[in-house]
Amino acid sequence: AADISSDLTTVLYTEEQVHQRLAELATQIDEDYAGRDILLVGVLTGAVMVMADLSRALRSHCEMDWMAISSYGSGTQSSGVVRILKDLNTDIAGRHVLVVEDIIDTGLTLSYLVSNLRSREPASLEIMTMFRKPEAQSNQVEVKYVGFDIPNEFVVGYGLDYDGRYRNLTSVGTLAPHVYS
Ligand code: PRP
Ligand code: MN
Ligand code: MG
Repeated sequence: AADISSDLTTVLYTEEQVHQRLAELATQIDEDYAGRDILLVGVLTGAVMVMADLSRALRSHCEMDWMAISSYGSGTQSSGVVRILKDLNTDIAGRHVLVVEDIIDTGLTLSYLVSNLRSREPASLEIMTMFRKPEAQSNQVEVKYVGFDIPNEFVVGYGLDYDGRYRNLTSVGTLAPHVYS
């Protein structure tokens, strides 16, 4: 079978660079949450890799829950429509919630999610994302933990997909043009 990594034209971040940065963020999160248990809320499906790696880099107690919320169809552009496909199993009232995302692009998904979660009255609510694109800044979402600010290009790997594929690439990069045609 063809090696999916050969569909990348550019590698932006290697697996090592991602893990190195996650270790730094985990240290910071452990300090910030000293003495408090964390409820990690992962946003399916993109955040599965970050969730798995961040949670294991933490030394703090943490629990995990998941929400499925989608603003994208099968293309590379946001549809502008946010839908909850699966809600949390946990009552987050009084909990210290840390939302875990793979990427913030327009910020649309998160601004919807944050106002939705805030109405459930968590003790605290913060956001961690592995990647953030420039447009996210304009969408008023305050993000406490950011792995990397990246250029406005369509990237895949480490949870990020194109039409559901390439999430399982360990590195993050841009796709060769032939993939889109
Ligand atoms: C992607 C990504 C973020 C969101 C960011 O998810 O994982 O959740 O888009 O985009 P935004 O800032 O413009 O809202 P997607 O909706 O593609 O679902 P997926 O995680 O299942 O791929
Ligand atoms: Mn997502
Ligand atoms: Mg997607």
